[in-house]
Amino acid sequence: MSDSTTDNPLDDPAADPFAVAAQAADDIARLTGVDRHDIALTLGSGWGKAAELIGETTATIDATDVTGFGRPALEGHVGTLRSVVTARGKRVLVIGARTHFYEGHGVRRVVHSVRTAAATGAKTMVLTNGAGGVRHEWHPGQPVLISDHINLTAASPLEGATFIDLTDLYSLRLRDLARTIDPTLEEGVYCQFRGPQYETPAEVRMAKAIGGHIVGMSTALEAIAARQAGMEILGFSLITNLAAGIQTTPLSHQEVIEAGRQAEPVISSLLARVIGAL
Ligand code: HPA
Repeated sequence: MSDSTTDNPLDDPAADPFAVAAQAADDIARLTGVDRHDIALTLGSGWGKAAELIGETTATIDATDVTGFGRPALEGHVGTLRSVVTARGKRVLVIGARTHFYEGHGVRRVVHSVRTAAATGAKTMVLTNGAGGVRHEWHPGQPVLISDHINLTAASPLEGATFIDLTDLYSLRLRDLARTIDPTLEEGVYCQFRGPQYETPAEVRMAKAIGGHIVGMSTALEAIAARQAGMEILGFSLITNLAAGIQTTPLSHQEVIEAGRQAEPVISSLLARVIGAL
């Protein structure tokens, strides 16, 4: 098996991650033939079909051909980047290649796709994920808006004394816009755990006690990097399962994938309509 840690410029501590992202954006422009993108969309578990509904795909490229991107670690995570044009002529960079913090390649690799998206010109970052629901009244297959997050990874994409305001990190304007498409959308606070193990029931109780409603292993670090890059952020979680201890049966990756598969048509069309309205 080839090693995704080799030959990645981000693994050199002396590298400037923003310069690597600028190089990646140049690669994307060259390989897609699209100079600038307006919107970026990261597809998490269950959200994969959305790309087809957003508009016309003008180019699909292998993420590993783009500087700084590694190999996908997970089944259900496509390692491609697509350039899509919406009916209104907006260029959307669809990122089907997410590096998770639990892979252990460091935060620079985790947020590289977001920094690259910003370097392609994208002003809006749409982050999606599959996650566990802490609220009893939620059900697997339900999409929810992310209203805020709690970063439980003890890590940050910011380096040095970089003090960044995270008020309204998940844009109220964009959440309101999403609710004009689907007024039944609920929202909640996303807790990013490091993973890759699912949470214990005690950890889920802690998440609930500190104000969390959604538990997952992505998104918060990416959102911080997107804010640093000056992007407006919209976050969606697909509740693939109720969190450990909330649901009485054990959690399995298979269950998460299956819930995503079943919800895919509905949430993809929701996402496509929201992106069409941006
Ligand atoms: N916890 C963390 N990550 C997840 C979950 C969960 O319950 N479901 C899907 N991703």
